[in-house]
Amino acid sequence: QKIERAEEDTVAFTVEDGIAWVKFNRPEKRNCMSPKLNRRMKAVLEELEFRDDVKVLVLTGEGDAWTAGMDLKEYFRETEAQGLGAVRKSQRESYGWFERLRWYEKPTVAMINGWCFGGGYGPLFGCDIAIASEDAQFGLSEINWGILPGGGASKVAQELMPFRKAMYHAMMGENLTGKQAEEQGLVTEAVPADKLKARVLEICEALKKKDSHALRATKWTMRRMVDMTYDNGLEYQIRAQEALHSFGGAAARKEATRQFLDEKSFKPGLGTFDT
Ligand code: ACO
Repeated sequence: QKIERAEEDTVAFTVEDGIAWVKFNRPEKRNCMSPKLNRRMKAVLEELEFRDDVKVLVLTGEGDAWTAGMDLKEYFRETEAQGLGAVRKSQRESYGWFERLRWYEKPTVAMINGWCFGGGYGPLFGCDIAIASEDAQFGLSEINWGILPGGGASKVAQELMPFRKAMYHAMMGENLTGKQAEEQGLVTEAVPADKLKARVLEICEALKKKDSHALRATKWTMRRMVDMTYDNGLEYQIRAQEALHSFGGAAARKEATRQFLDEKSFKPGLGTFDT
């Protein structure tokens, strides 16, 4: 039967113990991204970003897909039928939330539970850590229907994968399993499907214990440096560390140093200080 989802039902989320579990929520359409979903996702991300009860955000999918990419009907065909203005608007809506995710104020983890295609590579890259089910399927399927991998997808492959692998992936339209995606650098790690949630939870719990301002400064530094020279990166690191001080970074570091050197209650090489 046909399911007509209201915009607010295209994304589902809950917050439990400091973790926001955000889901692409169109399982009947393999969670492909329609303009409605893109608008809703941006609103949900913004709503969660500064909540004190959210320490980490997980992006996953309802059903057997993470996301089957852009919605070929609602995002492409129906929007194109309305002309260039509508096309540009829908592009801004999707690229807009991918960008919000790349520069999110909290750490983010992609939990890739199934299909991940094309446009899905934007949010995949947007998440800081990506854990996939071994049997998830990753594809730049654009070439299979006569377009190039746009919306960031080809850049993501070129950025994350070895060049020869990325080129093959973009040109051949063959899918990679989660395991292969791990081997080729597209995801951080692949685990058996029945261990996926437990592994993601373990990572979230570890992130929750870190100093949140230091985490944000670290993830932004890693992303900013991608197109910097060594010297510019070094300079950026100095400035970012100094900016961190205005969020209490100097006091945090002093306290961590005290716990290590004086109290001997932790070792930075083996764990996190007590924040
Ligand atoms: N756009 C629009 N509708 C989609 C999309 C999509 N990207 N993906 C799935 N759907 C719809 C199907 O049309 C179908 O709708 P219907 O029930 O009204 O007929 C429903 O979702 C279920 O899809 P099935 O194909 O029946 O599901 P199945 O489990 O057999 O296959 C698969 C899953 C492999 C993901 C398949 O749906 C597929 O190939 N989807 C397209 C993947 C893709 O290439 N996405 C575009 C990438 S390029 C880009 O994002 C720019």
